[in-house]
Amino acid sequence: MGVLDGKVSFVTGGSRGIGRAICLALAEAGSDIALNYSTSREAAEEVAALIHKMGRKALIYQANVSNPDEDDTMVAQIVKDFGLVHIVVNNAGITRDKSFVKMDRPMWHEVLNVNLTGPAMIIHRLIKPMMEHGWGRIINITSIVGQMGNFGQANYAAAKGGLIALTKTLAREFAKKGVTVNAVAPGFIETDMTAEVPPASLDIVKQMTPMGRLGKPEEVAATVAFLASPQASFITGEIIGVNGGMYM
Ligand code: NAI
Repeated sequence: MGVLDGKVSFVTGGSRGIGRAICLALAEAGSDIALNYSTSREAAEEVAALIHKMGRKALIYQANVSNPDEDDTMVAQIVKDFGLVHIVVNNAGITRDKSFVKMDRPMWHEVLNVNLTGPAMIIHRLIKPMMEHGWGRIINITSIVGQMGNFGQANYAAAKGGLIALTKTLAREFAKKGVTVNAVAPGFIETDMTAEVPPASLDIVKQMTPMGRLGKPEEVAATVAFLASPQASFITGEIIGVNGGMYM
């Protein structure tokens, strides 16, 4: 028996990195999983196969979360396949880094669309039945960069900072309906996203991190699983850092 037995979780960007670890942690806790991916079908199928082995249902859905038509089709199909979605994890995210003076409009809009507008619109599509049911969990994956800012990431910091503000506002709006809204703010975690960061910059990150290392996707996923659990029932509007002490 898991604490999330009978629950359905929808995770965006679930085929790799932090999203993959979140899918596995929620399934481990007993949840069935609707897994969104954007490009790598094979990787998504692999995660679904691991979840099946745990005895849980897992289905995969291809969609670009910043495309309203694709979101509509995906959410309609998920509701058809699973019925009510109890837990939404907005994990999908991208970076398009450049110093602000060199950042062009497409770079700005792409990051805002995927990292902020996408999550907001996904919540908008799923929240009504959740509120009618009287129980739900929304967990947004923001970033330490949304809390501290970071050179070369004005678009990403604005999107992730916006996601924090969205989390707090929706926490207030949905609290009386039994739906909690929280965010997890990872520091630097070992995934494809940080694989793009030059090693010298990662050394500086490690020096700035009291624990002296990068985090692991599973450490972020464990926090998400806790926030999704019944044990986190009185926590809403929180931004939980998983950053080895880099920001406190
Ligand atoms: P990643 O690049 O390994 O994975 C991102 C996932 O999002 C991929 O599965 C990708 O296909 C998916 N995705 C990207 N754009 C999409 C779109 N338009 N529609 C649907 N899916 C899309 O990165 P990682 O590290 O696993 O990141 C996951 C989340 O954690 C992101 O929101 C990221 O901003 C956040 N984060 C990551 C940190 C890190 O150090 N790795 C630090 C702080 C936050």
